[in-house]
Amino acid sequence: MTTEFLTITGTPADDEIIGRAAEVIKSGGLVAIPTETVYGLAGSALLEDSARKIYAAKGRPADNPLIVHLAKPEDAELYGETTPLYYRLAERFMPGPLTIILKKKDNIPDTVTAGGATAAFRCPSHPIAHRLIEVSGHPIAAPSANSSGFPSPTNALHVKADMDGKIDMILDGGECEIGVESTVVKLNDDGCTILRPGAVTEDMLADVCGKVTISPAVIEPTLVDEKNPESPGMKYKHYSPTAEVILIDAPLDVFADHVNGHGEGKYGVFTPADEAHLYTGGILLITGETDNASQLSHSLFTLLRNADELGLDTVYVRCPPKSGEYLAVYNRIVRAAGCRITKLRDNRENT
Ligand code: TXA
Ligand code: MG
Repeated sequence: MTTEFLTITGTPADDEIIGRAAEVIKSGGLVAIPTETVYGLAGSALLEDSARKIYAAKGRPADNPLIVHLAKPEDAELYGETTPLYYRLAERFMPGPLTIILKKKDNIPDTVTAGGATAAFRCPSHPIAHRLIEVSGHPIAAPSANSSGFPSPTNALHVKADMDGKIDMILDGGECEIGVESTVVKLNDDGCTILRPGAVTEDMLADVCGKVTISPAVIEPTLVDEKNPESPGMKYKHYSPTAEVILIDAPLDVFADHVNGHGEGKYGVFTPADEAHLYTGGILLITGETDNASQLSHSLFTLLRNADELGLDTVYVRCPPKSGEYLAVYNRIVRAAGCRITKLRDNRENT
């Protein structure tokens, strides 16, 4: 299959491109699209065959369900069983990077939800994603547009690297603003549970929900119940470049000493620009400024892909905090590191 690569230019010409992409969706094809979080691999959520093609193009395990993307929060009425809490959350966070799990209706094929009785709903705020859903008139199933297991794509070239020849079309709408996928929550009688952290944080949800629980597997991936995970995506190896990611929980000076003492072969190190002077070797992968969680989120997947483009054997990453805006980054990087964290507390332990 030849994959068409089309650039969105912000001119009236875009209407024609969106129109063509909508035809592809309606006829059961696949289009990679920008969203505010990461690029998505879009197909109609009403057509079983489209879902099958999505799993095949990604090499995604058949038991990992897809998110259904809607133009408006109230469209969830058509495909799922909404609740008052859904609407309270939707009012605050939709459109935007929040995905809510609801009981599904029969018009969403089982292939989309991997056979499950629930479906995940999200309204993307990105104008291209939004317009494609509106113009096609279909709800859109869209996982991240990476090959299964690899870092999610945050620009159209990342998508091309993984999906060229496997899908009908790629729409290049530039860099994704947020850089990590949406927050996924399930609703409970007294609040909600975060199944995957994202840019909508625990505190932001607590403002609307009252009680917010974080699923233990978000922080400690080894706690996933393999037979019955709260969210199937939890149990898979994820976000991993070919380079080995070495995640170290340590004070900054201890981390830098460790990298300087142990880095060998072609290695890289994640560092904010203003800490770069601490490293005596290796290739520096600049994450933004110190204490800037948004910049770190924005650059995370690009830097993991850069590690492979540069042919690095290993990448050293200092463990981010496990809370607030950083929780989303922590959750991705710990999986990219194969769920291993090395704890170093003072310099004497390093020798
Ligand atoms: O930001 C995002 O959410 C991006 C963009 C493209 O919208 N999409 C995305 O989709 O990250 P994906 O398929 O890569 O991740 C969806 C996650 C998976 O971990 C999956 O297991 C979980 O959501 N999920 C989907 N449906 C679910 C359900 N019914 N119950 C529990 N978890 C569900
Ligand atoms: Mg994904």
